[in-house]
Amino acid sequence: MLPEAETALAIKFEALSPDVADSLAAKARGEPILAKNWMVAVANPHAATAGARVLKEGGTAADAMVAVQAVLGLVEPQSSGIGGGAFLVWFDATTGKLTTLDGRETAPMAATPQLFQNTNGERLRFWDAVVGGRSVGVPGTPALMEAAHKRWGQKAWSGLFAEAIDLAESGFPVSPRLAALVAGDADRLRQFSDTAAYFFRGGEALVEGSRLTNAEYADVMRQMSTEGAQVIYSGDIAQAIVDTVRGAKSNPGVISLTDLDTYKVKERPAVCTPFRGHQVCGMGPPSSGALTVGQILGLLDHFPVGSKNDPQTLRLIGDASRLAFADRGRYMADSDFVAMPTKGLVSADYLSERAKLLTGSRALTDVLPGNPEYSHASLWADDVSLELPSTSHISIVDSYGNALSMTTTIENGFGSRLMTNGFLLNNELTDFSFSSHSDGVPIANRVEPGKRPRSSMSPTIVLKGGLPTLVIGSPGGSRIIGYVAEAIVAHVDWGMNVQAAVSIPHAVNRFGTFDLEKNTSLEKMVEPMEALGYKVKLRALNSGLHAISIAKDGLAGGADPRREGIALGQ
Ligand code: GLY
Repeated sequence: MLPEAETALAIKFEALSPDVADSLAAKARGEPILAKNWMVAVANPHAATAGARVLKEGGTAADAMVAVQAVLGLVEPQSSGIGGGAFLVWFDATTGKLTTLDGRETAPMAATPQLFQNTNGERLRFWDAVVGGRSVGVPGTPALMEAAHKRWGQKAWSGLFAEAIDLAESGFPVSPRLAALVAGDADRLRQFSDTAAYFFRGGEALVEGSRLTNAEYADVMRQMSTEGAQVIYSGDIAQAIVDTVRGAKSNPGVISLTDLDTYKVKERPAVCTPFRGHQVCGMGPPSSGALTVGQILGLLDHFPVGSKNDPQTLRLIGDASRLAFADRGRYMADSDFVAMPTKGLVSADYLSERAKLLTGSRALTDVLPGNPEYSHASLWADDVSLELPSTSHISIVDSYGNALSMTTTIENGFGSRLMTNGFLLNNELTDFSFSSHSDGVPIANRVEPGKRPRSSMSPTIVLKGGLPTLVIGSPGGSRIIGYVAEAIVAHVDWGMNVQAAVSIPHAVNRFGTFDLEKNTSLEKMVEPMEALGYKVKLRALNSGLHAISIAKDGLAGGADPRREGIALGQ
C-alpha cells in the first residue's frame, strides 16, 4: 500500500540522500531495511537522517533520540515536540536491564477535578475543552530528552541540535501530511494569532513542498543546546508559556511558573507480560499502554496461534481487547494518585481466569471489568474519555546493542493550537476523564492537581531470553494499543517481517465496535464478523508504527505506509 501522499513524499525526499531514497523505495515495495550495526525508524526522513548521523558517529540511542525529537518538533509539529510529553522504554546492553522514563505532561497545581466541566458540573464538549489554554499540561519532553541523555548519552548534548537548528533556519519542505492537516484544521488554527501567522503565511495555508523556516524554533533549540532543557522550565520561554496559556483568548488555562519549575521526569519499572515465550515490556501507569497491550497478548497466549484471516482469530483478538479495555476504563490512571492493581491486572492467575471468557465462538455480549488482585481495594467508576489519533513514535537500536522505544505527543493534532516561541503547546489534560464521578463513585482518571493524565501510548520492547527482539510503538490515540498488539501478533505468531507487520491491515476493537481498515483485504471480513455478533465499522485507521526487529543476523526496520516515516540503518 503506498498512498498518493507517500509517492509525492518519495519524490520530494529523493534529493535528501541516497539512503533516504533507498529507504522510501524499500518501503514502497513493502520490504524492511536491513542493517548490522544500528537502526532508526521514525516519522519523517529529516528526523531519521539526524538520528542516523548521530548513530553513525558512535552516538547511543539516547543521543540519537535527542536529535530526532528536536527535528520532529520542527518538521512534524502537529504530532510531538518540546511543548508536549513522552514515555521512553530503554534496554541497556551493558546491564541487560530494562527501565522506563515518564516524561508525561502534568496537571498544574491549580487544576481541579472540575477543570473540564461547566458551572452546572456537566462535561464540556471535547473541542470546547481542547482548544485554548485550559487543556495545556506542563510539558515533559524537554526534561525527558535531557534526563535520557544524562543517563545514557555519550555525545556532547550541544551537538545534537545541529540538524534542527539548520533546518529551522534554512527551511525544510512542508510534507504532504502537514499541508493536508493544516488545511483541514484551519478554523481552529486561525483562532490564535501566533499559530495563524506560522501556518498561514500571508493568510494562505502552508502548501505541500513549500520551504518553511522557523527562526523562533531555531533560537529555542540553540538555547537548549547551550543551556540545557531548563530554558523551557524557567526564564523567558517559561514565562512565554505561562502568558500564552493564561492569556489565551479562548479557554485561558492555569499553568504557573512554579508548575514549570518543579516539573520532574520519573523513572518507573517496566511492565512486562509473557507472550509465546517472549516478554512484552512497556510503559506502566500513568500509561495504560503496557498493561492493556499485555492483557490482550496475555489472554491470547491461552489459545493456539490462529490463522491470520480466520474470523475466530479476529474474534479472539477483538474480545481480548474489549476485556482489556474494560479493565483500563475502571482501574488505570496515574498510580502516584490512585491505588492501582498494576501487578494484579497482568498476573498469570488473573489472565487465565479472564481467558475462560473467550472460550466461546461468538462475540461476547457483556464485557465488564474483572476483579484483579489489589493490595488495597478502591472503588472506581468507569471512565469514558475520548482520545483522538495524534502522536509520533521513535524506535532506535544503537551499535552498542541498546534499544530505545519512545512515544511522543502533544495529544491532538496541533495540540491546544496555542503556539509560543515557534512550538505548539499540548492539550494533554483532555486525556483525563472530563467527569470526576459516575453515580457518586469517583473515576480513577479524574483531574487532580499535579497528576498525570492516563495515556494509551505503548512504547514497547519485546525480549526473548532477556535480549530485545522487537522495538515498536505507534501513534493513534487509544487505538495505539490495538495497533501495537496486532503488529506483535503479526511478527511473533504469523512470522511477518517488521515491514509487513507494521503494514498489516488493522482490525481494532476497543469498546465493542469492530473497526476494520477501509480499502484493505479486511473489507471481506465485514460479513463474517457481523455473523459472529459484532457491529462492524469500515474506516481509515491511521497508525504510525515504527519497528525494528533484532536477530542474530542483524537488524530489520519497518515504517508504517500510512505515514511519512522511514527506517535508516547501517
Ligand atoms: N495523547 C495520547 C496518549 O497519551 O495516549
